[in-house]
Amino acid sequence: MVNLSDSKNKSCELLEAQAHIWNHIFNFINSMSLKCAVELGIPEIIHTHPKPITISELNAALSIHPSKAHCLPRLMRVLIHSGIFALAKINTKKDEQGEEEEEGYVLTNSSQLLLKDNPFSILPYLLAMLDPICIKPWDFSSTWFLNEDPSPFQTAHGMGFWDYAGRDSKLNNLFNEGMAGDSRLVTSILIDQGKEVFHGLNSIVDVGGGTGTVAKAIAQAFPHIQCTVLDLPQVVDGLHNTPNLKFVAGNMFDSVPPADAILLKWILHDWSVEECLKILDQCKKAIKERGGGKVIIIDMVKENQKEDNVTTETQLFFDMLMMVLVTGKERNEKEWSKLFFAAGFSSYKIIPVMGLRSIIEVYP
Ligand SMILES: C[S@@+](CC[C@H](N)C(=O)[O-])C[C@H]1O[C@@H](n2cnc3c(N)ncnc32)[C@H](O)[C@@H]1O
Repeated sequence: MVNLSDSKNKSCELLEAQAHIWNHIFNFINSMSLKCAVELGIPEIIHTHPKPITISELNAALSIHPSKAHCLPRLMRVLIHSGIFALAKINTKKDEQGEEEEEGYVLTNSSQLLLKDNPFSILPYLLAMLDPICIKPWDFSSTWFLNEDPSPFQTAHGMGFWDYAGRDSKLNNLFNEGMAGDSRLVTSILIDQGKEVFHGLNSIVDVGGGTGTVAKAIAQAFPHIQCTVLDLPQVVDGLHNTPNLKFVAGNMFDSVPPADAILLKWILHDWSVEECLKILDQCKKAIKERGGGKVIIIDMVKENQKEDNVTTETQLFFDMLMMVLVTGKERNEKEWSKLFFAAGFSSYKIIPVMGLRSIIEVYP
């Protein structure tokens, strides 16, 4: 005999599984809707509007084609659902039918970070990561699993990410600007920790330091520290030195200028274990020439803080990103410590003060 409740449960499970897969198939709709909204300039329009902006005001401000006016609320709805925008009550206006409440769109903490003038803006990073150049490699990941290429980016474009950035000024500029936005956010925390991290230092080299946002802040907060930024020519060429800040074009795999400390912010997660060992070896030589010192790393330490679903997802996403665009990975403490000892360092200290990322001091 057929058990009706069993078959009802089975159908429920089946439908849930179907919806689960649908959501996975369509996860890209969140990213692409966000990209569409920023390309239209929606965050800026909402920001400059003196009160919550109604859909008709938004349609007008964006000069949406009249035939698409009914589509804009649909775009906004999906971005409200994911917490990018929110709805707020505006006013109550009297008409013959009585009071009528209107609603308008407002920014959330997340979309504040999409504003051009926000010093911590994620906008350039978003535009770089969602550019077809960075999306294409994802389409090549299954091919890459079966070939010898170091990254899906290499399979898709025939060269690595940094070589590509060296030839494509749009990607290079967006990426460097994106890194600068993140650096401004991280720097305030780093400088707060300054007394401990920078105590006793007279010189520091920010290896792969981008356009120098972190180094500039260190140079300003601690004028006695001589700061050097080492990065690829495409990143530092044309940048101006100041009395205690110098830009050097070079390759961290070949050599690192000597200093009391070497800073590696968001560097080692870009590289494989073998590549990290080569970078750390150059760092060790650089601090040895100054008789000791330390390497200061800013990167994620996976599984090192209270985990919730969002944190875990962010870590998993970054780990995949490092696999697809470059040759790196996100590491847990065990993997970090193995790396440091294999590179010949004697001890390390993790200072978990940067949300998902930590400051890790490594000693020779
Ligand atoms: C993820 S970004 C981090 C930038 C910066 N440290 C920050 O967090 O804002 C990695 C940096 O490493 C630089 N880089 C890549 N390969 C390099 C190499 N062989 N030598 C020196 N820098 C390199 C890139 O140009 C880029 O600026």
